[in-house]
Amino acid sequence: MLRVDFNVPLDAEFNITDDTRIQASLPTIRTLLERNAAVILMSHLGRPQKKRKEDGSIDREKFTLRHVVDRLSTLLEQPVLFATDTVGEDAMSKAAQLKAGEVLLLENTRFEAGEEKGDEDLARKMSQLADYYVNDAFGTAHRAHASTTVVAQFFDRDHKSFGLLMDREVKNAKVVRDNAERPYTAIVGGAKVSDKIGLLENLLGKCDYILVGGGMAYTFFMAQGGQVGNSLVEEDKLDLARDLLAEAKQNNTEILLPADSVIADKFSNEAQVQITPSDEIPEGWMGLDIGKKAIRDFSEVIVKSKTVMWNGPMGVFEMEKFAAGSIAIAEALAEATSLGAFTMVGGGDSVSAVNQSGVADKISFVSTGGGAMLEFLEGKELPGIKAIEE
Ligand code: 3PG
Ligand code: MG
Repeated sequence: MLRVDFNVPLDAEFNITDDTRIQASLPTIRTLLERNAAVILMSHLGRPQKKRKEDGSIDREKFTLRHVVDRLSTLLEQPVLFATDTVGEDAMSKAAQLKAGEVLLLENTRFEAGEEKGDEDLARKMSQLADYYVNDAFGTAHRAHASTTVVAQFFDRDHKSFGLLMDREVKNAKVVRDNAERPYTAIVGGAKVSDKIGLLENLLGKCDYILVGGGMAYTFFMAQGGQVGNSLVEEDKLDLARDLLAEAKQNNTEILLPADSVIADKFSNEAQVQITPSDEIPEGWMGLDIGKKAIRDFSEVIVKSKTVMWNGPMGVFEMEKFAAGSIAIAEALAEATSLGAFTMVGGGDSVSAVNQSGVADKISFVSTGGGAMLEFLEGKELPGIKAIEE
């Protein structure tokens, strides 16, 4: 039984828009098949318990893992069987009949109410489907769920292990966490400061530069008395933003904010746009991407760095009008790599930016972890990793 993270982004017609995580699982699946295993794959997709239908039921059509069967089967060049439940009758009978060299994907683990609670009964049922447990779901290793963590306790040390992806992820993340060559630059983006507090605090003193982009930058501008119009601001994090800026100075870490922003009159790809200094955004307008000067400033720092870590987009990357900043940062990372830097990218949107810019193979390591990578770099112990190591 191989726990993978197939939590991939889907469009409105349920087409996979970025298959990085599926691609990343292939080496382990292939290795198991070459060793004559019958491979049972287990994953979650989205947050079906939280995003229920109006009548309160689970939206099975939206969150079914059937959406990934065709892509996986194309990539593996062999059919992939599918069970319509996770530990129910279909899963049990298909797992029992599975032959060496065959692949079976179980339905979304989060359709089970016990998954996110780390329910032991559910984990025991999962364990009964297989002889060995391999955890390759680095992207979900920060969750102490039944399929990622609790299930491991039902296998002894000779019957459980990490997969190849987990191994690569941990090795690369350790380079950045413990052995970053300097100058070390972290690029931190995304909508909210509150998601990145732990990371930012941990990076102070370790990094020479922290480049802040995305919605979270406007909380920093507002904290310094700037005018940010209708940009996203976390009012309850203004003090924290001021503290971070002060602490950075004491720790010899330079926090760079985007000098200018692409601003819009509404949150839409059809909005009118212009570029202004990021602390002079008029009322009624909001910053949705970093501007041209910010791109130049950030790129200059990136290309002179020896270690670069990027987590979180520079703008509302899903909308074409506000994607330029993230794409430019991806290109700067590729250039830094060619100049000898170790570069690592994590987090769904930043990884998509790297893929869309066509520079993925010019980045030292593209992580499949968003939240998991953040927590790892914060120095936290990830329960999915601990469960195997124990
Ligand atoms: C992710 O994409 O962050 C992982 O797959 C974990 O999903 P979650 O954030 O919904 O727990
Ligand atoms: Mg997440």
